[in-house]
Amino acid sequence: MERLQKVIANSGYTSRRKAEELIKNKKVKVNGTIIDELGYKVSKNDSIEIENKLLKKEQKEYYILYKPEHTISSAKDDQNRTTVVELINTKTRIYPIGRLDYNTTGLLLLTNDGELANQLMHPKNKVPKTYIAKIAGILTIEEIQKIKKGIIIEGRKTIPTFVKQRHKNINKNTSKIEITIIEGRNHIVKKIFEALNHPVIELKRENYGFLNLNGLKKGEYRSLTIKEIKKLYSLK
Ligand code: URA
Repeated sequence: MERLQKVIANSGYTSRRKAEELIKNKKVKVNGTIIDELGYKVSKNDSIEIENKLLKKEQKEYYILYKPEHTISSAKDDQNRTTVVELINTKTRIYPIGRLDYNTTGLLLLTNDGELANQLMHPKNKVPKTYIAKIAGILTIEEIQKIKKGIIIEGRKTIPTFVKQRHKNINKNTSKIEITIIEGRNHIVKKIFEALNHPVIELKRENYGFLNLNGLKKGEYRSLTIKEIKKLYSLK
């Protein structure tokens, strides 16, 4: 059983807030009866009508996108920049699960499955995400140790589960670091390196849990397989 406004929003019909307004304004019927109570619970077998039209249960869609730089991780942008949603050819109202910065490239999941999105983005959910950060300068062994022990960002310690230097360019004084983190805090990788005075020059997410970018080029995407979707649901 799920709350009526959640079922309406998850169907892709409208946002949760607008669904609540429709309910309060007596526009929603469940099995033929007007329901104006927020939080009324419905099951999969109940028929829901909005303004006398049957609510279609939208097919769920799941995509893995190799996000290019200069794209924004949202469904809409008030500055008219290209959004990650625009890169995917679908008429369904999908949205990204979490965010990658405008200039960050790499693995991004998109879906219209609100339940999975909420589950994966919940702070309790510990999905490891692996990034390759090209940074200014070359980390000393002590600095790598510091990152491994945990850097305090905005009052909270972030402890990566893996950190390793992958490449260094002595001439250009840059290096590439692989770093795996569990948290979903905004700009977290950039903040870790900034805290050590090694600003990030480029950032790419290579893995999200068990998923990787194999077979995809920048800007390309594919649908997730049933097996992958089930495995994402089991990542609790
Ligand atoms: N950390 C960042 O700093 N930026 C991203 O896009 C993702 C993680």
